[in-house]
Amino acid sequence: MASPKDYSDEEVVRSAPLFSALDDAASASLRQSMEPVKVGKGNTLFKVGDIGDRLFVVVSGKLKLGTTSIDGRENLLTILGPGEMFGELSLFDPGPRTATATAVTDAKLMALSHDKVIGWVTEHPNVSLQLLGRLAQRLRRSNEVLADLVFSDVPGRVAKAIMDLGTRFGVQKDDGLHVNHDLTQEELAQLVGASRETVNKALADFAGRGWVRLEPRAVVVIDQERLSKRGR
Ligand code: CMP
Repeated sequence: MASPKDYSDEEVVRSAPLFSALDDAASASLRQSMEPVKVGKGNTLFKVGDIGDRLFVVVSGKLKLGTTSIDGRENLLTILGPGEMFGELSLFDPGPRTATATAVTDAKLMALSHDKVIGWVTEHPNVSLQLLGRLAQRLRRSNEVLADLVFSDVPGRVAKAIMDLGTRFGVQKDDGLHVNHDLTQEELAQLVGASRETVNKALADFAGRGWVRLEPRAVVVIDQERLSKRGR
């Protein structure tokens, strides 16, 4: 599994759904319409309910997308990393931002105004197909998350979340799959929709069985087969 560091910023941006249907010339032109944005670790890029007029592609670093309940509890929808896009829902379904975006690590992004997206989609029908594909993927994933909340127990959801983060951010080394998720235990709990205590208990149980090794803001998966099976 290649580490995100193995790719140049240019390659990362080109892997985003907006670009995948474009040839080199169109892709370079689209990049020129985009503006670089930096967000420091812990800073919020936008909040749920804000007016949104841009979408973003992550070039480096990680962001969390989440919502907060009236009584202040937080729920994380997803963690995004290099090559992933967000901030398009308020364009296709005009209205306020549907989630709050906060940097989990220092992050570099490229921003494209919604107006320009409309221009690109109109001129390049393949771009809309790619965007539709990504929206469909997200809906599929959201359905799965919903089903897991109803049918799966907390350890199962923790196992699945670690394997999912591992697929996107993991680096295979001799001693296992290193998943540097950069999340606190509280954030990991918000991602699986459970309390920190229950999530910690599940992680300690996996570690006791020799499936994982726990490190600060990272997990090393030693037995991928058993962990995947537990998350099924
Ligand atoms: P927008 O509503 O403009 O701003 C928040 C963004 O979070 C939204 O666009 C999507 O890009 C993203 N988002 C919202 N819900 C989800 C979800 N369930 N999974 C992944 N990303 C999401």
